[in-house]
Amino acid sequence: MKTGRPTLTVERLQRAVQRVQGEVRWGEPLAPILSLQVGGPADVLIVPSDVEDVIRVIQGARAEDIPFVVLGGTNVVVRDKGIRGIVMQLKQLTGIHEEANHVVYAQAGVRLPRLMQFAMGRNLSGMEWAAGIPGTVGGGVVMNAGTQLGEMKDVLHAVDFVNLCGRRIRVEASNMSFGYRKTMLPKGIVVGAWVQLTLSTRESIEAKTKTYLRYRRVTQPLTMPNAGSVFKNPPGDSAGRLVEAAGLKGMRVGDAEVSTKHANFIVNRGTATASQVLALIRKVRQTVARKFGVRLQLEWKIIGEF
Ligand code: EPU
Repeated sequence: MKTGRPTLTVERLQRAVQRVQGEVRWGEPLAPILSLQVGGPADVLIVPSDVEDVIRVIQGARAEDIPFVVLGGTNVVVRDKGIRGIVMQLKQLTGIHEEANHVVYAQAGVRLPRLMQFAMGRNLSGMEWAAGIPGTVGGGVVMNAGTQLGEMKDVLHAVDFVNLCGRRIRVEASNMSFGYRKTMLPKGIVVGAWVQLTLSTRESIEAKTKTYLRYRRVTQPLTMPNAGSVFKNPPGDSAGRLVEAAGLKGMRVGDAEVSTKHANFIVNRGTATASQVLALIRKVRQTVARKFGVRLQLEWKIIGEF
């Protein structure tokens, strides 16, 4: 059968990445950089050194018609056969600074809790919801990350973005639309974000985050490899409550387990594979659908080859 893309060859991949200045790692296993610690290798993993380097990757991939994806590393499961083409990790994009009128700019690789700490250090409120979230600013923008304290869209002012032509543009949040754990963006890569914060006091920001962090420590399996909430909460209910009521806490497929602490988490007990995690998800969804007639929607993104 004829497919749209020419066959991926090493030569084409090499040509696509030849101008990259950051790290280029061939056949790199992705499990170690993913919070759930499962998943196969990338044909090539690139850690761009800066935004110009991200643009070089996009242009190289476009010239050779090679697929690319950015991995934040938290709310994602990579299948066991890994990812064809280019995978980018933006962990070198860690710049952060304050601008006028309580706006803070952070590059996509900044961890959300670091942005929260940076804001708190300047008595700026608005990022408290991100305390303890293991994701990055880039991932947080793309999926409109959030917790019961708030979400990215509440503070997002504008997005620093590179489109598929390799052009860097600023997209105002007022021109964007958001859903539950979803941001509608043009195709391309988020390389940074401006957040609009408000002046407060360190004490009140700290009090809010402390209570919240304590709640998460008590209710979530933070000491085991996990990828955050597995399912979105269905309207008017919570996925954790439903999965627990279905009697599924502690259910296992291999080393993948529905957490005994919080039923909307799947933890890796050591040697879980992506197939085991996905089989467990199927069982949970089937059981909850059968018992309660609710079709749980994944919050995670599943990518890679079968
Ligand atoms: N519940 C159960 N059994 C469980 C777990 C929860 O009955 O095993 C019940 C709880 O008693 C509570 C309700 O379900 O009445 C909601 O649980 P929880 O307060 O733990 O919040 P959640 O809706 O499961 C959300 C976010 C989390 C965030 C917490 C705390 C979603 C899908 N998840 O969880 O975000 O940390 O609130 O703010 O909205 C993430 O998105 O990756 C994430 C971890």
